[in-house]
Amino acid sequence: MPGRIGVWIIGAYGSVSTCVVVGAEAIKRGLIGRTGLVTDLREFEDIDLVGFDGLVFAGCAARESTLESASAEVQATAGILPTSLLASLTAPLAEVDRRFRRGCALNCGEAILGMGPVRNGDHKTAKEIGAEFQGNLRAFIREEGLRTVVVVNLASTEPYAEMPPEFASLAAFRGLIEKDRRDRLAASVVYAYAAIDAGFAYINFTPSWGASPPAIQELARERGVPHMGKDGKTGETLVKTVLAPMFVARNLKVLSWSGHNILGNRDGLVLKHPENNKNKVKDKDEALRKILRDDDAQSHVRIDYVPSLGDWKTAWDHIHFQGFLDVKMTMQFTWQGCDSALAASSWHTSRVIALPPRARFVRHARIEREPFPAPMLKNQPLRPIIKTGEAVPPSRSIGDDEH
Ligand SMILES: NC(=O)c1ccc[n+]([C@@H]2O[C@H](COP(=O)([O-])OP(=O)(O)OC[C@H]3O[C@@H](n4cnc5c(N)ncnc54)[C@H](O)[C@@H]3O)[C@@H](O)[C@H]2O)c1
Repeated sequence: MPGRIGVWIIGAYGSVSTCVVVGAEAIKRGLIGRTGLVTDLREFEDIDLVGFDGLVFAGCAARESTLESASAEVQATAGILPTSLLASLTAPLAEVDRRFRRGCALNCGEAILGMGPVRNGDHKTAKEIGAEFQGNLRAFIREEGLRTVVVVNLASTEPYAEMPPEFASLAAFRGLIEKDRRDRLAASVVYAYAAIDAGFAYINFTPSWGASPPAIQELARERGVPHMGKDGKTGETLVKTVLAPMFVARNLKVLSWSGHNILGNRDGLVLKHPENNKNKVKDKDEALRKILRDDDAQSHVRIDYVPSLGDWKTAWDHIHFQGFLDVKMTMQFTWQGCDSALAASSWHTSRVIALPPRARFVRHARIEREPFPAPMLKNQPLRPIIKTGEAVPPSRSIGDDEH
C-alpha cells in the first residue's frame, strides 16, 4: 500500500502549479477526464502507484495570492478553468491554500522580484532558509500523516549564471552554505539541497539549477534520494526532441533548426528579461544539440513575450536539412498549445518518484511492444525508469535528458 504522499510545490500560485492542484482535485472528484497523464498508460498498470486520492498538496510561494485568485487568473488568460468547475472545488482548494507557505526568492532576479510583494530571503542565512524549508516539509508529513513528500519545483525560471566552481563537489558546496555565500547561490539550489539532505525526492520542472549541480547529485547518492528533471518537455521542445532522432536515424544532415516561440503568460513576462530568457533558451538548445550530435548544425531559439496570447503559446520551427545527392530540403511545423495545461499533466511523475526504490522500474520488453516510436518514450520525463529489468539505483538522477 503506497500510503498518502505529499506533493510540495515550489512556485505555488503560478499558472502550472494552479492547474496541477485544480486538475488533481478535480480528478479526485471525477469532475474531469484523465487524458494526458502518462502514468495512466498500460506500462504502469501493474505498478502500485499512489492513487489521486492519496495525493496531498502543499507548497511555497514567492508572491502574495490565493488559490482562488490564481485560478481566476488562469481562467482569464487561458480560459481552461471554467467558473463552474472552480465553484465545485471551493472547499478543497481552500484546504490546499491553508497549507501554502511563503517561499524565498534568493537571487531569483528582478523579473520575479518585480511581480509584487515577495520574500527574497535577504534577512536569513542560506542555512536558515534550508532549515526552514526542511521544517516545513517535516511539519507537512506530521500534520497530514504522510508516508513521504515529493518536492516539485514549478517556480519561475531563475536568471542565467555560470555554475560556481564550488558546485563541483559536495564538500565545497557545503562550504558555501556554512559561509553563507548567498552571492553564489539561488533559491532553486538551496531548496534542492535542503530537500535531498532531509531525504525527500526532488523533481525540477524548470531550467533553473535545482538538483543539477554535481554537488547536489553527490548528496543524492550519499542520501539514496531520487531526483529528476531539468525543464519539463511539454510543447515545442517535446516535438523537437521527437523529430530530431528521425533526422539522425535516416542520416539526414540538419543544417539549421530555427524555433520562434511567442507566449503571453507570466512565464513569458519573466522570460522577457534577458538573463531569465538565456537560461530557458540554453536548455531548449542543449536538448537539440545532444540529439543531433553535430557541431556544424546551426540552432536558433527565440522566445518573445506577446501579452495578447495569454497562456496560448505558438511555436514555429523551420528545419533546413540535406539528404541524398546533397539535396537541401525544408520542414516546418507550427505548435499551438495551452502552456499550463500541457505542463500540468506532466507533474504526476511524483507518483513514480514516490515509489519505494525496488518498485521504480518497468520491464524493457513491454516498452518494445509499444506502437509509438521509442523517442516518444525516451523524451518523456519518465524515460530513465525504463530499464531492462533493473531498478534504478536510488541515488542517480532519473530525469535529465538522455539521448
Ligand atoms: N508548458 C509549460 O508551461 C512549461 C514547460 C516546461 C517548463 N516550465 C517551467 O515551469 C515554471 C512555471 O511556469 P508557470 O507558467 O507556472 O510560471 P508562473 O510565472 O505562472 O509561476 C511561477 C511562480 O513561481 C513563483 N516563484 C518564483 N520564484 C520562486 C521561489 N524562489 N520560491 C517560490 N515561488 C517562486 C512566482 O511568484 C510565480 O507565482 C517556469 O520555470 C517554466 O519555465 C513550464
